[in-house]
Amino acid sequence: MGELAQKICKLGNEEIINMLNTAYAEEWLAYYQYWLGTKVAKGVARPEIAKELKEHGNEELKHAEWLADRIIQLGGTPILDPSEWKKKAQCKYEAPSDGNTEILVAQNLMAERCAIARYQQICDKCKDKDFETFRISEKILKEELEHEQEMEDFMTDFKYY
Ligand SMILES: [Fe+2]
Ligand SMILES: [Fe+2]
Repeated sequence: MGELAQKICKLGNEEIINMLNTAYAEEWLAYYQYWLGTKVAKGVARPEIAKELKEHGNEELKHAEWLADRIIQLGGTPILDPSEWKKKAQCKYEAPSDGNTEILVAQNLMAERCAIARYQQICDKCKDKDFETFRISEKILKEELEHEQEMEDFMTDFKYY
């Protein structure tokens, strides 16, 4: 753990670590939702959508990694037991029980909007107090905004099939 990293953070590490762990749980669930979505996808534009879902899933996993590294740097512990993920997450995990691509995309769009709200919240909390957490959250936020846009574009395209 980074000794100075912990001192620099004026907000109170506990509060930040707690927020980061919520985001961390949400990233794993988002990763799994996407990953499984690629397996069960069927229907309109399946190959294109499955490819996009796979890319998004890989990015969610990368976000989880950035968050884990930051949590450790601040002296915290990333959630150790996956059974805690759903308890800790505030964004809803939408099981891809219907592989219809239109339903998958709509579910993932909801998840992206929740993620955007999460990183807006973290950025807002950290912007004057913890620049590094701010920087990481801003970097993730940028990708979540792109994810939202891509899901919205598919929603629009569905109208033309
Ligand atoms: Fe993410
Ligand atoms: Fe995302």
